[in-house]
Amino acid sequence: MNILGIESSCDETSVAIISDNILKANLISSQDFHTKYGGVVPELSSRAHLQIIIPLLKDALKQSGLELNDIDVVAATAGPGLVGALLVGLTFAKGLSYAINKPFVPVNHIEGHIFSGFLMEDKPEFPMLVMVVSGGHTLLLIVKSYTQIVKLGTTVDDAAGEAFDKVAKMIGLGYPGGPKIQKAGALGDPESIKFPVAELSEKYNFSFSGLKTSVLRYIQKEYGDSSRIPEERKCDIAASFQNAVIKAIIKNSERALKNYEVKSMSVVGGVAANKPLREALHELANKYGKKFVVPAMTYCGDNAAMIAYRGQKVYESGQRFTLDYNAFPALPLNIFSE
Ligand code: KG4
Ligand code: ZN
Repeated sequence: MNILGIESSCDETSVAIISDNILKANLISSQDFHTKYGGVVPELSSRAHLQIIIPLLKDALKQSGLELNDIDVVAATAGPGLVGALLVGLTFAKGLSYAINKPFVPVNHIEGHIFSGFLMEDKPEFPMLVMVVSGGHTLLLIVKSYTQIVKLGTTVDDAAGEAFDKVAKMIGLGYPGGPKIQKAGALGDPESIKFPVAELSEKYNFSFSGLKTSVLRYIQKEYGDSSRIPEERKCDIAASFQNAVIKAIIKNSERALKNYEVKSMSVVGGVAANKPLREALHELANKYGKKFVVPAMTYCGDNAAMIAYRGQKVYESGQRFTLDYNAFPALPLNIFSE
């Protein structure tokens, strides 16, 4: 069976093909031009998706040694994401499905991330504790099977990636913030500034807006504004901020490990590319004797391999969809059981 996956929820256009359970192609085109605007410009993103999607599909087919008519299922991200961007990939996928007369499967982007660890050779085992950390989402989940996802906690304000992006801007590191904070943080002392880690009454929830404000207050108090921060101090701020985010994630994950019986642990989404975070979670998994599976870097950020994989599982579960299925900027997770 050949599954085509298409991803266009934000600033990456991606096309992937899974052929008889083997990933044959996963092409990703990143829209780097947003950097000069300090964030993703939705309309420019949609236009760029439109320009690149057909060449990417052609290359993916060539790389897989397949023709368009060999595709058995067309899967595409339906949400959450930027609606104009989503519409490009989704509409293209529906048109393709109609043209080649093969089923179309809409995929929830977050569910794509959740199961991205399964793209690795050494796969996670159910039940698994999954930490989803992306630009728009922060979720702590118990995933019991491909159809049973239990939400333990989420953020009450900013997503983890969003906090990385906003703090990078405050320090004057630019966009996208996550990789820049990691790079600067590697040269700084993570214990040099004590930024607060929020304590919430809902014990698995997260809050990053207080942390973000305390970084801002610190910069204002010490330097007036970001242009006056000495370079080496930027590194200390980045390292200390990153350390506070990691502490919050470790604290909630450890609580979950104490209260829920799981076989494996995974961290997924754009922020899962963060090396110190991966290392801290790996250490935690070792402490509790759990298998730790983290997707390779290419499967952490937005990619169509995870969409094709999830699309195949949804298709195999027997669900079928009509072509009037639409894009959902805030499509909820399919949380089936408590
Ligand atoms: O999953 P993703 O590619 O897009 C969404 O679905 O949101 O995540 C993007 C987020 C951005 O906020 C980016 O700053 C963050 O992932 N990110 C990182 C790193 N690489 C990307 N955050 C921390 N450390 C990194 N190395
Ligand atoms: Zn994503």
